[in-house]
Amino acid sequence: MLSIVTLISGRGSNFEAIVKTAQKEQWQVMFAGVIANHGAAQGLDFARAQGIPTFTIEHKEHATRESFDAALIAQIDALGADLVVLAGFMRILTPGFIRHFEGRLVNIHPALLPAFPGLHTHERVLEAGVREHGATVHFVNEGVDEGPIICQATVPVLEGDDAGTLAARVLTAEHQIYPRAVKWFLDGRLRIEGNQVKLHPPESQFFKL
Ligand code: GRF
Repeated sequence: MLSIVTLISGRGSNFEAIVKTAQKEQWQVMFAGVIANHGAAQGLDFARAQGIPTFTIEHKEHATRESFDAALIAQIDALGADLVVLAGFMRILTPGFIRHFEGRLVNIHPALLPAFPGLHTHERVLEAGVREHGATVHFVNEGVDEGPIICQATVPVLEGDDAGTLAARVLTAEHQIYPRAVKWFLDGRLRIEGNQVKLHPPESQFFKL
């Protein structure tokens, strides 16, 4: 059975969506652990309630990113992760960390990459006046929000939206596509070809919600 380790920094609603989908669909998977970079991450409560082992590695206790990432790698490897899921993990990871987990490290970004990488995507989308927004699940490479795209979902930007209403609509889309992408990985259906991810057998990797 494959094992997932999830990294969170906050609410952990994407992690929760993945666990709940796995339970509903009876996936053969082990949630080996959840690691947060500070003890106040709310998502840890959900993990504990589910009996999933939780760990906190305080980034503030590490003088360098390299030392923090080395501690993360050691914990993840000790848990035996086949897949590392970044779910609202708000730390920039070092190239060494990314290389260590290459091909088994995924992230969700609240925008239609390659548009709007980085932070504050909803505010920036509203400011730019674009009419379509969404979320992207991707493998992580050394660029920020750049790796091969596994799937995307679009949602409309509606008249009268503010960053809060738009974020909520995008989050609903995130909760649908992140579990799908994780399941595809677990089923061995994803192949990275150059900077693209092919799904075998093919199925749409793009959702209009
Ligand atoms: C999500 O919008 C995710 O795309 C972004 O941070 C947020 C995390 O939310 N990277 P949650 O912690 O999963 O609820």
